[in-house]
Parts: sequence; structure tokens; C-alpha cells
Amino acid sequence: MNELDTLVDHARTAFAQAATPADLENAKALFLGKSGRVTELMKGMAQLPVEEKKARGAAINVAKQAIEAALNARRQALADAELEAQLRAEALDVSLPGRRRAGGGLHPVSRTLERIEAIFASMGFDVADGPEVESDWHSFTSLNNPPNHPARSMQDTFYVDLNGEDGTPYNLRPHTSPMQVRYAHQQVKKLAAQFEAAERDPNASAPEIRVIAPGRTYRVDSDATHSPMFHQCEGLWLGANVSFKDLKVVFTDFCRTFFESDDLVLRFRPSFFPFTEPSAEIDIQFQSGPLAGRWLEVAGSGQVHPNVVRNMGLDPERYIGFAFGMGPDRLTMLRYGVNDLRLFFDGDLRFLSQFQ
Ligand code: PHE
Repeated sequence: MNELDTLVDHARTAFAQAATPADLENAKALFLGKSGRVTELMKGMAQLPVEEKKARGAAINVAKQAIEAALNARRQALADAELEAQLRAEALDVSLPGRRRAGGGLHPVSRTLERIEAIFASMGFDVADGPEVESDWHSFTSLNNPPNHPARSMQDTFYVDLNGEDGTPYNLRPHTSPMQVRYAHQQVKKLAAQFEAAERDPNASAPEIRVIAPGRTYRVDSDATHSPMFHQCEGLWLGANVSFKDLKVVFTDFCRTFFESDDLVLRFRPSFFPFTEPSAEIDIQFQSGPLAGRWLEVAGSGQVHPNVVRNMGLDPERYIGFAFGMGPDRLTMLRYGVNDLRLFFDGDLRFLSQFQ
């Protein structure tokens, strides 16, 4: 091996040992730099006789090109390795499943409430909302249930540590019935205007109230079928000529639509509420399926008591009709076959996610 081949060999080895681009540039300087080995060889040619210069120059050039080629190859290899390392470091495993946001959904009781609202809206009922912390007057007295009346003990009420204007404590409403009076009060002016219009024009629509009021209600009660917080949905239809017959039609229609079955019958069982006279519990019975043959109580109802109509600010001679209060929690249990009401309010996702 001649001296030039050895030099090329050394250069290749030095370049191969350079682990980084900076090392490689240092190694390059040793061979191709201003005072590098190749440059020195060039300078050494000055002493050669003219006839040898040409061949020597050509040989050095061949060696120089070989060194430059080795340098470029090593530069490329280092750049490739760097790129590959970067790609490896930033690699995405596209076969890994994405991290999804857990899917939320409506609570089963909310679904029932939406269903109730949609069905009654289709029958021309308005949907109203009202306070859960109520005055004594709205929860009881306005509903023909005066202080000290024994009927008040039908409901074990929660009281709030704050007195209303009349000196009696506020309560967590034990039923949605106060909404009958609240809603009617909101409508009094409109009804009076409609009444006047109807007197002038026999084709004007007759004044009436048709509303449901769903929401949370509270009682001191807790077992498999009672929760201290539960839901009710009030219904009220008052007009010139609204009767118990209308209640039967409306409620039967509602139940059949809600349960998507004509295979159920209703029974109106005499009962007592201070705010209705006469009063009835509404029971339903499925004619087929797992609940067939049992009477299931779903609502209290009755013809609105004239005292309540008066407390609404309306004339009982002009307004007659019915009210009902049903239990959406109970309807949800029946619809989905759940036997413990408390499950709905424990917040256990293993239970709740079954309804999504
Ligand atoms: N408010 C009654 C209850 O909670 C139900 C009801 C409403 C009864 C309207 C008659 C009329 O039990």
C-alpha cells in the first residue's frame, strides 16, 4: 500500500469514528483543512522536479477525492442516523386506540320528565317551573289546607330555618301543587282579557288554564319506594266546562302514550285531598307483561276545590276543572323495571349507565 492509499485509509477510519457532525468536522480539518495532511502534500510538491509534478499532482488529487467522498458519505450517514433517531423518538403508535371522553347521558328520571312534557305539550299543555323552597301559604293554606288542619299531617314536611312574611317558616315543597296557584296567578290578567274578548266575539277562544309543572319535591320519608327528594308532576286544566270526564280521557291517553301500550286500564279510586273535591287516586293495570294484573298507584287527582280557585284569584263560577299530581320516579321504575327508588339518586354510574 503506498503512502497515499494509507492516508485515504486513515481518513476513512477517522471519519467512521466521528460519532457526531461536530466530530466529523474536526476530523475533516485534520485531512482537508488549511494545515491538513492533503494540503501539506500539495505544498510538498513545490520541491519536486517539474516532470514528476504532474503525476504526483494527479495522484494526490485522486486521494483527495477519495477522502472527500468518504467525508460526504459519513456526513450523509450521520444525518440519516439523526433523522432516524428523531423519527423513532417521535413515533406514534397509530394502532393504539384513542382516549375517548366518557359519554354522558340523561338521568333516567330526566328522560321520563322530558317524555311527560312532550306528551302533555302535544295535548296543548303549557310547562311551568317554580320554586322548591316555598311559603307556607303556597304549599298548604292556598290549597285549602289551613294551619292546624289535620290534613297537613299527610305530609311530613321539611321546614327551612327562615320565616316568611306571615311569620311562618318556609318549607321544601312537599308536592308540586303550589304551582297550581302560582301559575294561575301569572295568568289572571291574560284570562280576564280573554274573557272580555270572548264576551264580545263568540268565536274568540275561551279562556282556560292548561299546564303541567314537573319538578323536585321533598318529604321526610325514606325506603325502597320513597326518597326524601323525589319528583312530581302537577297537572291543571281549568275552563268553563272541564270535567272529570276530561281528566279520564287526558290521563288515559297520557298513560297509553307513555308506556307505548293500549294494553292497560285505569281505575279512579275515591280518596281525599284538601284541594280537590271529589278526589281520586289513579291506578293503572297492565293487561300483559311482567306487571300484569296488579293495580299500581300513579297519581292523585280530583276536581279543583272552589276555595283553591278563589285563592288563584279566579271566579269558581267561571272556572272549573281538574288537577292531578303524579310521580315521575314511579313511572320510571315501572317503565324500566327498577324495584328500588333510591338507586336513582345514589349516583352510582354502574346503575345509571345502563340507561344510556
Ligand atoms: N299533591 C298531591 C300529593 O302530593 C297530589 C294531587 C295533586 C292530588 C293534584 C290532587 C290534585 O299527594
